[in-house]
Amino acid sequence: MINSFFYSSSEELFCDDFALKDLAKEYGTPLFVYSSKVILDNIKKLNKSLKGIEIDIHYALKANSTLGIVSLIGKEGLGADIVSGGELKRALKGGVPTNKIVFSGVGKTNEEIILALSKNIKQINVESESELEKIISISKAMNIRAPVALRINPDIKAQTHEKIATGSNQAKFGLPLNQTIELYKKICKEESLIPKGLAVHIGSQIFNNFEFQSAYEFLLNTANNIRRDGLSINNLDLGGGIGVNYSNSKIDFDGFGKIIQSVFKGYDYKLSIEPGRSIVATSGILLTKVIYSKKINKKNFVVVDAAMNDFIRPTLYDAYHPIIPAKKNNNKEIICDVVGPICETGDFFIKNTKLNKPNNDDLLAICNTGAYGSVMSSNYNSRPPANEVIIFKEKSFLIKKSQSIEEQISKEILL
Ligand code: LLP
Repeated sequence: MINSFFYSSSEELFCDDFALKDLAKEYGTPLFVYSSKVILDNIKKLNKSLKGIEIDIHYALKANSTLGIVSLIGKEGLGADIVSGGELKRALKGGVPTNKIVFSGVGKTNEEIILALSKNIKQINVESESELEKIISISKAMNIRAPVALRINPDIKAQTHEKIATGSNQAKFGLPLNQTIELYKKICKEESLIPKGLAVHIGSQIFNNFEFQSAYEFLLNTANNIRRDGLSINNLDLGGGIGVNYSNSKIDFDGFGKIIQSVFKGYDYKLSIEPGRSIVATSGILLTKVIYSKKINKKNFVVVDAAMNDFIRPTLYDAYHPIIPAKKNNNKEIICDVVGPICETGDFFIKNTKLNKPNNDDLLAICNTGAYGSVMSSNYNSRPPANEVIIFKEKSFLIKKSQSIEEQISKEILL
């Protein structure tokens, strides 16, 4: 882990000024612990890589939409990329101005479109002809002009986990080239719409910058062709997708920035991007307590009090998130699987990792869990998800208290 997470001279893991053991004592475990410093540092590095280009950054709330985090990022001047009415409400509550909010996604409902138009958001990225028809009829009924862009599918299969690759022609996302051009013409003729431009997003966890380059060149050529047809097109939304190396916490902001600098140099398009993971992933750890260790047929298991309902990435995407002790010990090293209490073999965090054998009640940190962690948590096995704490200005803040089982039960009825 980087900068904010470090071992003190007494071999204890800290997040900025706080020993993780003290946070566990105060807020319990399992616990997401975030460092605001890391988030601000990631934003700084991203901005630096884009220096000299006029570009709007819309943070993709789906990566982490806890209000404390949304508001922190909003205060840095970033807008929001949202994918539901719920995320729109979170962005607004988090203080993101409406004119910095972009609405993406393949399945926007009537209610969500009405909400978005009534709030006067910056742009809706349309992904199908039927969605466009719906927006036209709603905007006419509301007597509001709808700002729309079209999401193009460039048919690029990014080398990432197949569940999060979105740019191939077999994926549900976006519009093929011919439909994009036809629909863009339609948008320009339609009084109730404001044509904004085009968008692309080929997937998440992308490490090969040439894949971004291909997608952006495709987008640029399409926009240039539309302009040649005499239509006005000003905004190009380049999506998100910057990869985060979970093993060493490295993020290639510079390489990403260079691609944008080189592809769009000399053009006057107004650019925007939608990064999620790269802003928040390295800012967080999931702190968990060892309940037991056990050995079956020479195989070691360390059973902890967090589970796949708190952090599902390892089992859902075979993702590797290193696990380190909150205090180093001198016990003998073992090779073990770190697993949760849920009744599924898939409930694991890491397999065959080397750890100094932890004692019961020791704390472990599952690293780089700031993105797609708490947002993907559930109450499976009637487990309340983890609380969330952030270190901000030398203080710790409980930014999300998880709903207790009693609170959840109170919303249900008996028959
Ligand atoms: N824009 C659009 C239209 C998206 O669909 C996404 C992510 C983003 C931006 C942000 O992408 P990022 O910069 O975070 O890569 N749950 C999965 C990731 C799903 C990503 C979905 N879309 C995971 O844990 O890996």
